[in-house]
Amino acid sequence: MWSKLSSAEGDATSCARVERWVEVSTLDDLWEGDLAEVQLDGEAVLLVHLEGGGIRAYQGVCPHQEQSLADGDLDGDVLTCPGHRWEFDARHGRGINPEGCVLFSYPVRVVEERILLGVPPAGTSRYYHFTATLEAL
Ligand code: FES
Repeated sequence: MWSKLSSAEGDATSCARVERWVEVSTLDDLWEGDLAEVQLDGEAVLLVHLEGGGIRAYQGVCPHQEQSLADGDLDGDVLTCPGHRWEFDARHGRGINPEGCVLFSYPVRVVEERILLGVPPAGTSRYYHFTATLEAL
C-alpha cells in the first residue's frame, strides 16, 4: 500500500511565468481525444486534446518510472500511464490513483489552429518525480 508520496520540486503544477511561446503542433494533428508527444527544448511534452475541447500540455513522462504518457490511454478525462496504470485527471494533471502526485503543466494557447506552449524561464524544473515508500510493517 502506498503511504506517502513526495515531490522534490514542490506543489506547483504549472509555471507561473512564460519566457516565450513556441508552436508545437496544430489542431489538425491533434484531434479531440488524442494524445501526442512533442519535443520542447529537448524535453518530452505530452499534448492532450480533451474530449469536448481544450488542450493541455504536461511533462511527457510519468512521475513514477518515466514511461511515455503519450503511449497511455485517454478515457474521458482520465489519463492512464501504460507502465503501471497510474491515473491522472487530464484536465489539470493531478493524480487520481494514486492521489497526491501531479504532472508539470505547460501554459497552452491556441491561435488560429496552431498550438503554442509557454516556455518556462531558464532553470525551471519541467518534470515532477514522485517517490513512494511502503508503510512500515
Ligand atoms: S511508469 Fe507510469 S505508472 Fe509506473
